[in-house]
Amino acid sequence: MTVPHVRAAWLQGGDARCEELPPPHGRTYRLVLLGPPGVGKGTQAELLGRALGACHLSTGDIFRAAHCQAEPSPALKAALEAMRRGELVPDAVVVSLVRERAACLRCRGGFLLDGFPRTVAQAEALDELLAELGVSLDAVLNYQLPVEVIVTRLGGRRTCAGCKAVYHVTARPPHVEGVCDQCGGRLIQREDDQPESIRVRMRAYEEYTRPLTGYYERIGKLVSVQASGTPEEILARTLRALSTLLGHKEYLNSA
Ligand code: AP5
Repeated sequence: MTVPHVRAAWLQGGDARCEELPPPHGRTYRLVLLGPPGVGKGTQAELLGRALGACHLSTGDIFRAAHCQAEPSPALKAALEAMRRGELVPDAVVVSLVRERAACLRCRGGFLLDGFPRTVAQAEALDELLAELGVSLDAVLNYQLPVEVIVTRLGGRRTCAGCKAVYHVTARPPHVEGVCDQCGGRLIQREDDQPESIRVRMRAYEEYTRPLTGYYERIGKLVSVQASGTPEEILARTLRALSTLLGHKEYLNSA
């Protein structure tokens, strides 16, 4: 298991640099995590990051980090409003934020893109960017779970205000209530985990993001994974499914 490194370059953009680069790992993995809000993408990205040495790159985390900026740009302000309502941020805004962080996609540690792409236009923009960078996607993990279970997961979610680690009040509680195990930061409930925002996010997923499964299935990169059970069971399932797709035995060994 490798230790996750700081994601300053991704979270802050601009001139920010990660304090620590991922240590050299046997192989570089470049993956996208797809699935409805609350299915557990962020949780799996954290575990996969440790197992594969790849960096967790979440577009939602970029927006939540920007929330703390003293003077966000007008485009960012509008994006944060959309996010609070549970709506998607416009493609142009998201794509330009990802383009600004292109170096993260070329990082020697590889990447686990979580929450991007979310529309077909974003998937096309990602293809274009990766081609420019001379790197390619290994696979797209599509997590699936019944909606009732998802709603329970979202209702009990708590997130670290500092390092963004994700907990659940009953399924994945921290050692000390309200305090992050990893950095000691304060655990908070996300603004978009309110019932009305959850409904809007689910609709946006059905309308704009679900069609992406067909997009990636057509190019043979889609791996479907049932997201039931404990996070560790889902991780093991994911690694087995990846192993089958890519034919790499090390996935099984690192679980
Ligand atoms: P984003 O941050 O990407 O949120 P999301 O896709 O809605 O996904 P979530 O973070 O809600 O859930 P998750 O699947 O990561 O689940 P988690 O691991 O936390 O996006 C937020 C917003 O930003 C969007 O609505 C949009 O406005 C904007 N945005 C971002 N990217 C964009 C883009 N590309 N284009 C346009 N707009 C964009 O798990 C959930 C809970 O379940 C946790 O409490 C966890 O502890 C628990 N849990 C996880 N696994 C298990 C398990 N196996 N058993 C029990 N509990 C579990």
